[in-house]
Amino acid sequence: MKFVPAGVVPFVALLLLQRRPVAGRALLVTGSGCPSHGLCRSNVQEQTRRQVAVLNATAQELFSLYLKCQGEPFSSESDKLCNPAGIFFPAFRVNRTSERKEVMVAMYKLFAFLNASLGNITRDQEELNPMAKELLERLHNTTKTTRGLISNLTCLLCKNYNIFQVDVRYGDSSRGKSAFKKKQQGCQVLRKYVQVIGQAARVLLPHLSPS
Ligand SMILES: *[C@@H]1O[C@H](CO)[C@@H](O)[C@H](O)[C@H]1NC(C)=O
Ligand SMILES: *[C@@H]1O[C@H](CO)[C@@H](O)[C@H](O)[C@H]1NC(C)=O
Ligand SMILES: *[C@@H]1O[C@H](CO)[C@@H](O)[C@H](O)[C@H]1NC(C)=O
Ligand SMILES: *[C@@H]1O[C@H](CO)[C@@H](O)[C@H](O)[C@H]1NC(C)=O
Ligand SMILES: *[C@@H]1O[C@H](CO)[C@@H](O)[C@H](O)[C@H]1NC(C)=O
Ligand SMILES: *[C@@H]1O[C@H](CO)[C@@H](O)[C@H](O)[C@H]1NC(C)=O
Repeated sequence: MKFVPAGVVPFVALLLLQRRPVAGRALLVTGSGCPSHGLCRSNVQEQTRRQVAVLNATAQELFSLYLKCQGEPFSSESDKLCNPAGIFFPAFRVNRTSERKEVMVAMYKLFAFLNASLGNITRDQEELNPMAKELLERLHNTTKTTRGLISNLTCLLCKNYNIFQVDVRYGDSSRGKSAFKKKQQGCQVLRKYVQVIGQAARVLLPHLSPS
């Protein structure tokens, strides 16, 4: 894990890096530092807890519905086709004893990746399964919650640790792939997401407990 202290990388270079498709440095806030005020709402910690809990509670249903909507062979061979071993997914090695700052950074990487992946999955499903209304609605809901969570994590990272940029690695874009590959990539990502969000909830929630 690489922390980038303020001011080490020139701002212009950051913007260029951010456009690269696979590895990038996500700028949490615009500018070259954390704003001194106005970024955090008062109940940000509680909001963050709630958002992680909601994502954890809805992940399995999202995955099951996704699978159902892809038809065969996905519904019957999901174990084989959706095995996430071959895809990139952010490592999530923090645990309850990790420093809170480490947990927050790992969370940021996870949800920034998830947001980008959901963007691809939603675009693909709008094209491949335009009639799957409930699935599309769930994808939109999950994306919305994820973005709210990212903004709350951004605020916590800035406020508590003065971190305003984090190295984020993204997955492959599904653009231009075959329909089968798009469906497969989506199910690999969502299946892994179900596992990791459970772990994230276990690790993060105690760190955010009212103390
Ligand atoms: C928890 O994570 C820290 C690093 O954040 C690591 O050093 C430690 O060994 C881990 N503990 C367990 C029980 O996995
Ligand atoms: C989420 O992903 C979209 C692309 O689908 C991107 O435009 C947006 O900036 C991302 N938002 C955050 C908070 O990372
Ligand atoms: C698709 O994924 C790539 C790589 O993660 C990302 O750069 C791109 O913004 C995503 N596209 C959408 C529409 O979210
Ligand atoms: C989407 O979110 C809204 C508001 O939280 C909720 O009422 C609705 O049931 C959700 N839909 C799905 C499919 O999760
Ligand atoms: C935090 O999450 C809440 C609920 O989704 C959202 O209204 C708010 O804009 C988010 N961001 C901040 C910085 O509070
Ligand atoms: C995460 O969701 C699963 C499935 O709904 C649930 O069993 C588990 O208790 C949740 N974990 C946390 C920490 O809330």
